[in-house]
Amino acid sequence: MKGAIFDLDGVIVDTAKYHYLAWKELAAELGFEFKESDNERLKGVSRMRSLEILLEVGGIDATEEEKQVMAEKKNNRYVEMLQSLDSSELLEGAEAYLRQLKNDGVRISLGSASKNAPLILDKLGIRDLFDAVVDGNSVSKAKPDPEVFLKGAEMLGLAPADCVVFEDSQAGIEAARNAGCGVIAIDVGGILTDADKYVKCLGDLLV
Ligand code: BG6
Ligand code: MG
Repeated sequence: MKGAIFDLDGVIVDTAKYHYLAWKELAAELGFEFKESDNERLKGVSRMRSLEILLEVGGIDATEEEKQVMAEKKNNRYVEMLQSLDSSELLEGAEAYLRQLKNDGVRISLGSASKNAPLILDKLGIRDLFDAVVDGNSVSKAKPDPEVFLKGAEMLGLAPADCVVFEDSQAGIEAARNAGCGVIAIDVGGILTDADKYVKCLGDLLV
């Protein structure tokens, strides 16, 4: 591994719960219950694609305009929840593992679907650990499309095959595979497939 490309939500920081809460609130407003089991399908997926899946679960049709309003509403609520985010919500061993890789000379990129990634990295105070940041503001195709990881490898000046992706979503694992990268799954629930290795958290990889 010459390069490491990290997903953000659910790999480095425990923001997945806030995404879920914000979507759940929107679903409640729309008159249906959004369950945690359905939420699994939203992980790693872009904001608009997440909304489409949510509406599919609720059996709701909406115009493009209505969808824009709903996505904005969810995001405003999510960003509100992020205001109090700090380093205490880093997942176990995440910062230590990033530092270990840095000490070993491994180049590090973020590879996240989130447009809120810059805000989150600032709140956590870990921006300087990344040699490159690729997020929802710089990619146009959502995971499982490989764009985010191909761009990450390119920004690190490395071939995708020399990079390992760290992911907690099935869409992200597929994106890593499609990019030709290795992939380590952060799989708390034991539900992910197709990765090279499975751990519960980045702390499991510390030496
Ligand atoms: C991913 C999350 O990291 O970012 C998804 O796993 C989320 O659940 C996606 O939908 C987009 O995030 P944001 O912050 O741009 O709405
Ligand atoms: Mg994730």
